[in-house]
Amino acid sequence: MADRPEGGQDPLVLVSNRGPIQYSRDGDERTAKPGHGGLVTALAGLAGHLDDAVWVCTALSEEDAAVSREHNGAAFEEEGVGPGLRLRMVELDAEAQHQFYAVVSNPLLWFIQHHLWDLGSTPDITRREIDAFEDGYVAVNELVADAVVEEVEARGGRATVMVQDYHFYVMPERVRARCPEVFLHHFVHIPWPAPEAWLVLPPAMRASVLNGLLGNDVVAFHLQRSARNFVLGCQELLGLEVDLDRFTVTAGDRTVAARWYPISVDPDELGATAASPAVADHERRLAERRRDHLVLRVDRSDPSKNILRGFRAFDTLLDDHPELAERVTFLALVQPSRGDVPQYVEYLERIRRLVADVNLKHGTSDWQPIQLGLEGDFDEVVAAYKLYDVLMVNPVSDGMNLVAKEAVLVNQRDGVLALSENAGAHEELGEHAVTLHPFDIQQQADALFEALMMGGDDRRDRLARCAAQVRQNDVARWLRTQLDDVRALREAR
Ligand code: G6P
Repeated sequence: MADRPEGGQDPLVLVSNRGPIQYSRDGDERTAKPGHGGLVTALAGLAGHLDDAVWVCTALSEEDAAVSREHNGAAFEEEGVGPGLRLRMVELDAEAQHQFYAVVSNPLLWFIQHHLWDLGSTPDITRREIDAFEDGYVAVNELVADAVVEEVEARGGRATVMVQDYHFYVMPERVRARCPEVFLHHFVHIPWPAPEAWLVLPPAMRASVLNGLLGNDVVAFHLQRSARNFVLGCQELLGLEVDLDRFTVTAGDRTVAARWYPISVDPDELGATAASPAVADHERRLAERRRDHLVLRVDRSDPSKNILRGFRAFDTLLDDHPELAERVTFLALVQPSRGDVPQYVEYLERIRRLVADVNLKHGTSDWQPIQLGLEGDFDEVVAAYKLYDVLMVNPVSDGMNLVAKEAVLVNQRDGVLALSENAGAHEELGEHAVTLHPFDIQQQADALFEALMMGGDDRRDRLARCAAQVRQNDVARWLRTQLDDVRALREAR
C-alpha cells in the first residue's frame, strides 16, 4: 500500500462493532479469521504503522467472549492484527446484544438511512423498540464507552478516538463527558439522509442520536451530500446554529465539523489475492462453465443492495432479447447477512424463490440463466471479478460500495460496470460506467443490454479509467487525509 500513514501519531483508539478478527472453535481447536466488510479491511491497513493503538470491538461469537474473558476484558496482542495494535473485545449480555444489533442498529437505523421502510406499514415503534433503544442500544453504547474511557485514561487522556458507524451514535457524548481533552472522530459508513427521514424516530430518540454524535469533534461520511444532510439535521431537528459553508455545527461551547472522505480499497493487496493459486482454481472452474457473456453481482444479502430488482431486470432482458438465450449467465455471489434479523431472513428467502422462478421460466435442460452462490468465499469472488463482462451494482442506496472499486482493479475481460446512481461510488466512477436507475427495472434491463453489446474500445477505455481512479484514490489516501485533518484540527483547537 503506497503512502501509508506515518507512525509517531497520538495514541489511537479505534472502535467498531465488528472487529478485525473473529474467533471460532472446532472441537479442541480455536481459529481466528479476519472480520468481513469494507470497514474492517480498510482500518486493518493501519496495523503495523502505529506506535500505540487499541481496537475496541464487541465480542460477536461465543469464542470471542471466551477470548475476552481469558484477558479479563482487557486489551491483548493478537498476531493476526499486527504489531502496535492491540485488541479489546467487549462481552455483551445476550439480550442487550440482540436489542442493540437486531432491533435498533439493524433494521431500525439501517433502514432509515437507506430509505428501506415501507412507511405505510412499517416500522411500528412500540414498547419493544423503545425498550430496545434504552436497554440495548444505549446500554451497549455505555458499556463500550466504559472500555474506551479506560483506554483513553491509560494514555493520559490525550488519545484520538476513531469511532466507526451507526452502532455507536450515542457513545461519543458519553466519552466526551468523562474525557474532555480527547479528540473524537466518528466515521459513518452509510448514507446520512435528509432531516425528514429521521422523523420516523420519536423525538427523544432522534435527539439522542444527534446529541450523541455531537460529542465528536468530527463526524465524517463518504460523500459531501451526507455531511450536508447531517448539518441540516442538527439545524432542523435540534434548532442548533450551523454554518453550511464551513460544514460546522455549534454545540454549546464546542464546534463540530462534518467532513467527507470517500473510502477505497488496497490495490496491491487485492492484486496479490488475484494472483494466488486459490483464485486460479476458481477461475478454471468458472471458465469451464461460462457462456458467451457473464453478468456478475457480488453483495451481502441486504435489501439495500436491490438484488430482487436486479434479477427482475435480467428476466426482462431475457424476455426482450430471446437471442441471448443460452448465451448469457448471471452469476450472483451473495453472502448471507444478518441472519438474526427477520427482515434479512425473509429477503434471502425471496431471493431464492425469485432465482428459482426465473430459471424455471427461461432455463433449458443444460442452461441455468441465474447461478446463485451463497458461500461468501472471497477467492471465488476475486476469480469472478477477473471474468465478468458486465458487473451489476444496483443498490437502492449505498454509502460507497467497495465491490465496484475492487472489481474494476482486477477484471481481465474489459468488463463494463453497470452502477446505480445511488451508490456512493457513482460520484467517482459514474462517468465511466453505465448508470442504473435502481427502481426502474426496464431501464436496468436496457442498460444491461447496452453494456453487454458495447464495443471493445469503449469497454477497454472505461475499465482503464475506472481502475486509474481507484488506484489514485486508494485506501491509504483515505486514511492519510483523515489523520492529517485530525492533526490539523487538534492543533487548531
Ligand atoms: C456495512 C456496515 C459495517 C458492517 C458491515 C457488515 O458495511 O457499514 O459496519 O460491519 O456492513 O455487516 P455486519 O452486520 O455483518 O457487521
